[in-house]
Amino acid sequence: MGLTRRLIAAALALGLGGATAPAGGASAPPMIRPLAGVRTWVVYYGAEASAGPDLARFDVVVLDPHGHPPLPVIKRHGAVVLTYVSLGEVNTSHPEYAAIKDEPWVLAPNPSWPDARRLDVRAEAYRRWLLDRVVPAALAGPVNGLFLDTADIEEIRTVARWGVLDGVTTNPTLFGKTKGMTYDEVLKVICGITSGPVSAEVVADDVEGMLREGRHFAKLADNIYVKVPMSENGLEAMARFRAEGIRTNCTLIFSANQGLLAAKAGASLLSPFVGRLDDINEEGMTVIRELAEIVAIHELETEVLTASVRHPRHVTDAALAGSHIATVPFKVFQQMVRHPLTDKGIVQFRSDWDKARKALAANEGKAPEDVKPTEARV
Ligand code: E4P
Repeated sequence: MGLTRRLIAAALALGLGGATAPAGGASAPPMIRPLAGVRTWVVYYGAEASAGPDLARFDVVVLDPHGHPPLPVIKRHGAVVLTYVSLGEVNTSHPEYAAIKDEPWVLAPNPSWPDARRLDVRAEAYRRWLLDRVVPAALAGPVNGLFLDTADIEEIRTVARWGVLDGVTTNPTLFGKTKGMTYDEVLKVICGITSGPVSAEVVADDVEGMLREGRHFAKLADNIYVKVPMSENGLEAMARFRAEGIRTNCTLIFSANQGLLAAKAGASLLSPFVGRLDDINEEGMTVIRELAEIVAIHELETEVLTASVRHPRHVTDAALAGSHIATVPFKVFQQMVRHPLTDKGIVQFRSDWDKARKALAANEGKAPEDVKPTEARV
């Protein structure tokens, strides 16, 4: 896409380019108004970290969704950060280009922008690709929260119903506990339950094998993060996945240095295993604290995901140590819900209400079950 059209796309994202609607009237189209207080804005296509402080001088910064300077530097100065998507054109370096290049709606190269191919905007399949893959990928930002550490579909459905599920991590051991489905099938079902990151672990130990397995997983759903073990081959694979736009979760991290290397290789998530360190009489939480601090100090674009969680105290300590995410087994999720004083309090309130209801029923000559909590008067 030429610069002018990119600026127009950005302007649309900002709401700066729309026509003003006539005031009032039921049929008036929705009014598009500029962002309040925005005086200066910039579009930056590069990824140089050193550009951060300069960009931060603008009220609004529009960035390339696939490569840009670390966001914390820009945001710290209060700039609003937006991204753009190109319409009617795709660059051949786009992470999804290989998957779509033979589609009938991918047309001839743009003569004035040879790295780009034109797209047939009238094609329904193009519209779907744009809405289902390009836009969600552009909007996907850093994740925070609680993941479920399981491949058990019922456990995932339960925690999703509680409204607290931000993602899921699986591994070969957890998949081995499931029955009747292939790993692919399990992953597809999980990705249908949560739109948060779902980790799918490779088992190959050579780079090409990891890439083959990871590319396969990445095609199953948009929210797959390929889980790659920390190793020399793992680092190389993660660097290549990053170049292809495939997000990774580096697993089996047991030291801050391993985490630092994985961050530099481009892992989106770093998984230090606290429980397994505690098991060998080391302090798992020290690695979480050190790594979270390194990520913050150096504004690395990655997140610390505390794994191998054994009990609720691990979750609290990880959050206090600055871990962005903890992946929690179902049993520990249940333990987090419960507290003996909560259980005791529920029993007490129930019994007090039953007593009050009986008294009200006696006063009003009703059966106790006819006294409704919402109508009761004392
Ligand atoms: C998650 O990503 C890890 O694979 C998992 O938390 C490991 O936990 P474990 O040490 O209990 O096997």
